[in-house]
Amino acid sequence: MTPPRKKTPEELRSHRWYGVKDLRAFGHRSRTAQMGFHRDDYAGKPVIAIINTWSDINSCHTHFKQRVEEVKRGIWQAGGFPVEMPAMSLAEPFQKPTTMLFRNLLAMETEELLRSYPADGCVLMGGCDKTTPALIMGAVSMDLPTIFMPAGPMLRGDYKGGFLGSGSDTWKYWAELRAGNIGEQDWRDVEDGIARSPGHCMTMGTASTMTSAAEVLGLTLPGAASIPAPDSRHAQMASLTGRRIVDMVWEDLKPSDILTAKSFDNAVTAVLALGGSTNAIVHLIAMARRAGIALDLARFDALARETPVLANLRPSGKYLMEDFFYAGGLRALLTRLPGLLDLGQTTVSGRTLGENIEGAQVFDDDVIRTRENALLQSGGLAVLTGNLAPQGAVIKPAAMEQRLRKHTGPAVVFKDYADMAARIDSPDLAVTADSVIVLQSAGPQGAPGMPEWGQLPIPQKLLKEGVRDMVRISDARMSGTSYGACVLHVTPESHVGGPLALVRDGDLVTLDVDARRIDMQVDDAELARRRIAWQAPPEKFSRGYGVLYLKHVGQADTGCDFDFLEPESKTASSGEPE
Ligand code: FES
Ligand code: MG
Repeated sequence: MTPPRKKTPEELRSHRWYGVKDLRAFGHRSRTAQMGFHRDDYAGKPVIAIINTWSDINSCHTHFKQRVEEVKRGIWQAGGFPVEMPAMSLAEPFQKPTTMLFRNLLAMETEELLRSYPADGCVLMGGCDKTTPALIMGAVSMDLPTIFMPAGPMLRGDYKGGFLGSGSDTWKYWAELRAGNIGEQDWRDVEDGIARSPGHCMTMGTASTMTSAAEVLGLTLPGAASIPAPDSRHAQMASLTGRRIVDMVWEDLKPSDILTAKSFDNAVTAVLALGGSTNAIVHLIAMARRAGIALDLARFDALARETPVLANLRPSGKYLMEDFFYAGGLRALLTRLPGLLDLGQTTVSGRTLGENIEGAQVFDDDVIRTRENALLQSGGLAVLTGNLAPQGAVIKPAAMEQRLRKHTGPAVVFKDYADMAARIDSPDLAVTADSVIVLQSAGPQGAPGMPEWGQLPIPQKLLKEGVRDMVRISDARMSGTSYGACVLHVTPESHVGGPLALVRDGDLVTLDVDARRIDMQVDDAELARRRIAWQAPPEKFSRGYGVLYLKHVGQADTGCDFDFLEPESKTASSGEPE
């Protein structure tokens, strides 16, 4: 049954552009005619903005050129008027220094496109890592009816009769190459086989984590996040998404009706059960704050203590997103979390999360585990605090060598990325397998942009001895496809004088995952002396967007959003245009 219309055509936002009798509306109509549309094509219909992050340089979104046509087909069928609005594409493999520097810029672009043009509702087309949170953050701030169309994962990588996983196997075979275990031709075969179709990374990296989170939040149609990009069902999902947004406009179903503290708890729980990316912590906190919902690191840790890791997906497990889809996908996984989700939450389908997953089945118990046979009974992610990270740090215990859960070793400190790149493979580096590698100046302001440098490389001489994991600490993030005992997002970051800036070579550092602690064994008096001697590094930008970024970006524990984009800073001047 279709819910009743809550709006008349005259109440549509776009009516102010198209419907009124004045000179400006004449201009809008005559220019729409210039584009080949008859008045009947749009008059009285919801105008649906399709914010498309397609780009020639975004390998994960190549199919969006076609998919957008399928979205438009659905919009036309349902009686809407589709308007494609290309937005900055954040292409994870190509954009320097890191796409994270630009997440908030895409969020701003999304919000301002929706505000400044005659949009009644929007379809967000994203998937590659930061595009998902960016698009959603912008749309949440604007709060028009919004539906998200995920890019979908690419097919499994193919190599010598086996599978390759995005990112994870890059790091793995790069280590083997550096250790001398594989040759140049093998490495070339990995290069040719690891990304062989459209779609985002097909490990449980940031992309799969965030599109799954968007689905659990209720922002996609049921099942949308798990369909591989080249599958014909993905094209069908695109057209269904287009159809649905038109009804959402008439129903006036907005993000503020969908996003609640409970829907965010659901998303966090799902991310944990998926063995999802640590990046989800930063993004979900930022997204929640845009919706005026207080989500913090402590909530992640609390939910992690009760949520089992059920998805056997790389980098924590064995399989890839294509296998996950065939095994039943996200809907099936959610049926295995009884009591851990609030199934009464509203979604864009107009039905509850519980109704959306009704009838979903698991077809492969090794890919989507039962609770009894979970990959981990709890602790997919853990939040640490201590004198090294007073406002928190995170680690992914699911994807590390378990012998390192409690470890003390002497610090080997690199003052920035260039210092690390210059010395890490030096035969003279004083490092053993017990050392703790520390990287400074890699945070939101320090790097800047908090790049995915957190999986610090294992020194070459240790690789040759067979060492594959060590305790590593930084204020950077880590790619969701990475693994290792990497303590990330150390807050406050070293660039602003956080204690990470004060660590010196040889200081004993203790990681204790079970106690949720990260500490250096240096007494307070000595730390105070070091603090007095510490000098802030120079700012990295003196003009352009970078200056805006450095002035306004927050720390990792609050999601790295810009201060002026938080809801309390909404003012009349960011309201509806005249
Ligand atoms: Fe686009 Fe990984 S590179 S999702
Ligand atoms: Mg990534």
